Amino acid sequence: MKGIILAAGTGTRLYPASVPISKILLPIYDKPMIYYPITTLLLAGIRDILIITSPYDIDNFKKALGDGSQIGVKFSYEIQKVPRGISESFIIARDFIQNEPVALILGDNIFHGFGFSSMLKEVAKRTSGATVFGYQVHDPQRFGVVEFDKNQKVLSIEEKPKFPKSNYAITGLYFYDKNVVEYAKSLKPSARGELEITDLNKIYLKNNSLNVEILGRGFAWLDTGTFESLLQAANFVQSMEINTGMKIAAIEEVACRMGYITPKQLIELSQKYKQNGYGVYLEKMAHLIQAN
Ligand code: DAU
Repeated sequence: MKGIILAAGTGTRLYPASVPISKILLPIYDKPMIYYPITTLLLAGIRDILIITSPYDIDNFKKALGDGSQIGVKFSYEIQKVPRGISESFIIARDFIQNEPVALILGDNIFHGFGFSSMLKEVAKRTSGATVFGYQVHDPQRFGVVEFDKNQKVLSIEEKPKFPKSNYAITGLYFYDKNVVEYAKSLKPSARGELEITDLNKIYLKNNSLNVEILGRGFAWLDTGTFESLLQAANFVQSMEINTGMKIAAIEEVACRMGYITPKQLIELSQKYKQNGYGVYLEKMAHLIQAN
C-alpha cells in the first residue's frame, strides 16, 4: 500500500508563525509536525510515501526529509498549486498511486494511542472499500461528521454541518481501494470551491463500502489549527515523553522498530543530533532494540 501526506495548505490561521515556513514543518515540541503523520503511515507498514506541498514550501520539505533512504523508506514530492480540496490529492497523485490501494493523511493530524499500530496494520490489509476513523469531539461542526444507527451502521456523513447528527468527527486519515482516483475525478467542486473529502467518502458510503473505525476515549487526536491548540499539542507530547521516557513519532526509531533500518544505522543517524536529548534517545533505543 502507498501513502500520501497532504501538506499544501496556506496555514493562514497560524500567521505570522507560518509565514516563513509551512505550518506542517513547525515544531510540535521536539520535532517537525510532519514527523507525526509520517509515523502513522510507517506504523501501517507503508514505506512508499508521496508528500504534496505548496510550490513555496517544497524545498524546505526536501531539506527536512530528503528521499527517505536514510530511514529505509521512499519519499517523493508533488506540488498542489492552489488548495483546491483534499480530494484533489488523488488526482495529483494518480501516477504515484498506479491503481493500488492508498492511504491519505493530512499533514496536521496527530494521532497517539494504545493499540493504534495493530489497528492500522489490520486496516491496511483491506483491498476493497474505504476506511475512515471516527473520534468523539465537543465541537463536531468544525469537521466531517458521521452518523450511526444503534448497530454502529453508518447512516450519513456531512461536511461541517451546522446541526451535527452526532459528536463523531471523521479524522484526517483515510484508506482507499484502487478506485479512488476514478471517484476523485468524478467529483464536482463544492460551494466553497473545493473537491471535498466528504463527497469522496459519500461515494463509498453509497456503494456500501465505507468502514468507520472508532478511536476510543483513551485515544489522542490532536488539533494544531490555532495558536492555543498548537501549543497544547506540544505540551501533550512533552508531558507524555517526560512521563514515559519514550518519544512519540521519532521517525528514525519507528523505522528501526519496523525493521526498515538496522540498530547500527540508527546509531549512525543519532550522531547528527548527539548534542541534544533527541540524539541521546535514538542511540539508547538502538541499543535496546539490538539487545531484544
Ligand atoms: O482534520 C479532519 C478534518 O479535515 C475532517 O474532519 C474534514 O472532513 C476535512 O474536510 C478536513 O477539514 P479541515 O477544515 O481541517 O480542512 P482544511 O481545509 O483545514 O485542511 C486540512 C489540512 O489539509 C490543512 O493542513 C491544509 C491541507 N490542505 C487542505 C486543502 C483543502 C491542503 O494541503 N490542500 C487543500 O486543498
